Amino acid sequence: MAGYDRVDPVIMGHVLAQHRELHEQLTAVRHAFSASAGTQPDRAAIVHELLGTLREHLRQHFRQEEAGGFMEESLARMPRLARAARDVIGQHPGLLVEADRLIAALPTGPATAGEWATARDAFESLAAHLLDHERQENAVVQDGYNEDLGLG
Ligand SMILES: [Fe+2]
Ligand SMILES: [Fe+2]
Repeated sequence: MAGYDRVDPVIMGHVLAQHRELHEQLTAVRHAFSASAGTQPDRAAIVHELLGTLREHLRQHFRQEEAGGFMEESLARMPRLARAARDVIGQHPGLLVEADRLIAALPTGPATAGEWATARDAFESLAAHLLDHERQENAVVQDGYNEDLGLG
């Protein structure tokens, strides 16, 4: 009976695909930051657009995780994981705030190297927080599978 109660593999596959997409978006932003102003005069506009896309991806992805049966089912079945899952889902609002602050503080036109370095540092900090978040999330889901399959 446990076999029918585990996290929907279709939903989980979808969420994991979004995690891979997140990695690709972070790489694209990183490349845009490292372009020199000489070769990429419209770097500010490109970084703005990429981060806007990233922010929208996060908003939709978080909403699906919160509502789409990604973790909630494993929570109901496996109370041992409830605390870890609640904690990791609870990181979403703070991550969106961090993304908003980064976007609000971006250079909008010609900017000094120091201003770019500050923005890039803020982006790398957000990227590290996002990757750490997804790692924790993947671990909770994996634990849920293992426990449901009697491997936990
Ligand atoms: Fe998440
Ligand atoms: Fe996620």
